[in-house]
Amino acid sequence: MRIGVIGYGNMGSAFARALAEAVGRENILVYEVNEERKEKAIGDGFAVAQDLYFLSKNSDVILIAVKPKDVKGVLEDIKENVGGKVVVSIAAGLELSTYEEVLGKEAKLVRLMPNINVLVKKGTIALTHNGNLTEEEFEELLKALSRCGSIYAVPEPLFDSFTALAGSGPAFVFHFIDALALAGVREGFGYEESLKIAVDTVLGSAELLKELGGNPNEWSVRVSSPGGTTIEGLSYLERKGFKGTVIRCIEKTSEKARKLKG
Ligand SMILES: NC(=O)c1ccc[n+]([C@@H]2O[C@H](COP(=O)([O-])OP(=O)(O)OC[C@H]3O[C@@H](n4cnc5c(N)ncnc54)[C@H](OP(=O)(O)O)[C@@H]3O)[C@@H](O)[C@H]2O)c1
Repeated sequence: MRIGVIGYGNMGSAFARALAEAVGRENILVYEVNEERKEKAIGDGFAVAQDLYFLSKNSDVILIAVKPKDVKGVLEDIKENVGGKVVVSIAAGLELSTYEEVLGKEAKLVRLMPNINVLVKKGTIALTHNGNLTEEEFEELLKALSRCGSIYAVPEPLFDSFTALAGSGPAFVFHFIDALALAGVREGFGYEESLKIAVDTVLGSAELLKELGGNPNEWSVRVSSPGGTTIEGLSYLERKGFKGTVIRCIEKTSEKARKLKG
């Protein structure tokens, strides 16, 4: 499978590097308008196409990783060559119908919503498609995409909610980690050490949940001895409306995602 990556920015470059592990670096072709990023792609060992015509002609799968405002222009440039090929887009807020308007209803379309964790091949990625891919194409694509992180089949109406939860989610987790690290400083640790402790605590707790399963609430109860220190802290969080605040935060974020789409 040859994959053409359009846009070698934050996300395009992360996808290209992860996908290269699945299909081989030699099967990835990049197109990028920005000279500096074009050089970066070459430096990373990827072949760079001179134009979108060449890229679309020579790819089986085309991954669109440009900003949403640039997508329509890209579609106009590739539409001649996409017949029978799979077009995958990671642009936020653009629905499959937008792509069908330019490429036609018979186009093989996949829409993804990744998060920044694709940078370390641990992305949380929503996927929807318009039903035109063959089972074989779909399976091959899924196999390659799994190198970028975990893939969730999400119906398109839930994409804005997924964007809030997993797309913006890392920012909220970073915020929580920073708060823990600052708390450590207040207790007497240096920030660097405190940050490492906070990251390990969050990572280890997430891995425990993933490996051993169960409800996070049950695990909170398990680590809280009666009348002990942990329940003291948990009670304070609950009194301050911690869970309600997080739930409202996701609600506000997904409302904003819907509003931006218009
Ligand atoms: N960053 C995230 O965490 C995140 C998460 C989910 C989804 N997304 C989606 O991912 C997409 C890319 O985001 P990003 O953060 O990676 O953007 P980015 O870093 O700005 O990368 C986009 C790159 O594409 C280039 N470009 C613009 N028009 C082009 C064209 N016609 N052909 C080829 N390259 C072109 C841009 O060059 P110029 O800068 O010169 O225009 C830029 O280098 C967006 O649609 C965004 O909604 C991003």
